[in-house]
Amino acid sequence: MCGIIGYAGHRPAVPLVVEGLGRLEYRGYDSAGVAFIRENALEVVKAQGKLVCLEEKLAQIPNTVATCAIGHTRWATHGVPAERNAHPHCSNNKQIAIVHNGIIENFQELKEGLLSKGHTFTSETDTEVLVNLIAEGRKQCATLQEAFAWALRQAHGAYAVALMSPEEPGVLYAARMAAPLILGSGVGENYVASDIPAFLPYTRNVVFLDDGEVVRLTANSWEVLDLETLKPCQKQCEAIQWDMQAAQKGGYRHFMLKEIFEQPRVIRDCLTGRLTPDRKGVLLPELETLPVPERLHIVACGTSYHAGLWGRHLLESWAQIPVSVEIASEFRYREALILNERDMVMVISQSGETADTLAALRIAQQRNVPVLGLCNVVGSSIARDASQVIYTQAGPEISVASTKAMCSQMVMLALIALAWATRKDCFASAQRAEILQTLSSLPDILEQHLPAMHKQAQAIAPRYAKARSFFYLGRGHCFPLALEGALKLKELSYIHAEGYASGEMKHGPIALIDSDFPTFALALNDALLPKVQSNIVEVQARQGQVVALTDGPLSIPVDDVWQIPCVPGALAAFAALPALQLFSYEMADYLGKDVDQPRNLAKSVTVE
Ligand code: F6R
Repeated sequence: MCGIIGYAGHRPAVPLVVEGLGRLEYRGYDSAGVAFIRENALEVVKAQGKLVCLEEKLAQIPNTVATCAIGHTRWATHGVPAERNAHPHCSNNKQIAIVHNGIIENFQELKEGLLSKGHTFTSETDTEVLVNLIAEGRKQCATLQEAFAWALRQAHGAYAVALMSPEEPGVLYAARMAAPLILGSGVGENYVASDIPAFLPYTRNVVFLDDGEVVRLTANSWEVLDLETLKPCQKQCEAIQWDMQAAQKGGYRHFMLKEIFEQPRVIRDCLTGRLTPDRKGVLLPELETLPVPERLHIVACGTSYHAGLWGRHLLESWAQIPVSVEIASEFRYREALILNERDMVMVISQSGETADTLAALRIAQQRNVPVLGLCNVVGSSIARDASQVIYTQAGPEISVASTKAMCSQMVMLALIALAWATRKDCFASAQRAEILQTLSSLPDILEQHLPAMHKQAQAIAPRYAKARSFFYLGRGHCFPLALEGALKLKELSYIHAEGYASGEMKHGPIALIDSDFPTFALALNDALLPKVQSNIVEVQARQGQVVALTDGPLSIPVDDVWQIPCVPGALAAFAALPALQLFSYEMADYLGKDVDQPRNLAKSVTVE
């Protein structure tokens, strides 16, 4: 849940590392710090708060010509957000500094051993334990590298860690276990970081490190070693195709707004190369090596989970496959009855690094059940470990709140449902062609209507900004959208919001409705509309205000009717989703909230 970066090269390392941390801030932003070597001694500068607080501190200290540094941006796991808990952490003897992303689960036990040997601790972090364990190892190992590996072999849990020491100036060590770490290989400079954007302006050549690997890097060399044996591993350097511009705001006030407006492009990219030349069939070669599952278990978290719930409707009705959808943190600790190899687990994850989703993948693998990964981030842990991966092609998603990634997941789920329906021969080809034609028309429809939707959100949001609570109601394929609308509102504007299946209101929740408790109703023009309208009337009978999102005529009056373009069937979700996102965006912006970096959240949840 943190971002780390290490640099060894020829440029001034501290500003470069701070700049890289800026591009990792989406991973955590409650404190930040850097370490470098000045006059043969480690110097560590850290600050609580956003990166700007660190920059202010660094501006106070004399310029450094260090060309090797490590840095960290933190999202608290052990210990409150405070300067003493910020990274880098140093060993007691000030000979080793490390930055760490992850959780050392047995840190308490390791700490007790170190305390008995006289080590002292100034923070509550597992990282300070790890750095002192390395220092302890240094007393008995011949080299720093061996001491690093010795300590890591005793650490259980997850880590991406980078280390520097005045003992070997100009050298960095790093290692990975169940947390992302990528090596960037440049000319006369090398990097390690939690994510590629950290160093992308300087090099596009990357090496994806695997669990149980250690890397030693200097300005002119890098070598990957096996953690257990310290023997060299053969690694491939790969060239990244996307550039920094794709990760910049492109003129929008916030990344979130840009990413919402990117959805037409995302749908186009998802369909590129995925349709037969006559555009009537689906091309998904990734599925060809996998059997069509008899039962599918979709496992994911948050927004990706909502995409899975939506996908279930398509997979069941088009491909006739029974589907269960489960939150990964529940799935991993339940006796999930995955019966045989004809079942399949589908894990959906934008980042491909979500700890619970990754754990679900491992459980499925242990039971020899094929795992299909739906990931956005190329080379991420889930993408690499799944039996097959389908990339969702959303491009880098920087805003913490996921928007365009869900859209891309939904396109891929629709294509997968059609591909399996075709293989099972349970779906008329004319109907498939019609659906593909609708999917192909979505980018133009959204491009045309997004500006008006944005204006509508700007007009409606201020009228509801004083609300303390909100209901989001939907039925059928709109129920997952109601859940997603509520999630977006609460995470961005900190207004309490609940998504409910409309029909469930009478079973309790309607007791909450009064004139201060508005409802956002998804009232799309489908077979369930009459029932949704009845539910709206029930809310109104309790003085509840109603915003209704609709793509057809509504036969009842509501406080705010929000008309969106009409898209047939379940694909109407592609028009409803940006409206929900824009409403939450405008509510948060109107209330002056930090849209791209909501409090208490991080983009990539790599711990439980
Ligand atoms: C909400 C949001 C989160 C993520 C969730 C899963 O806006 O972004 O709920 O969807 O943390 O993340 P991934 O998809 O990376 O596994």
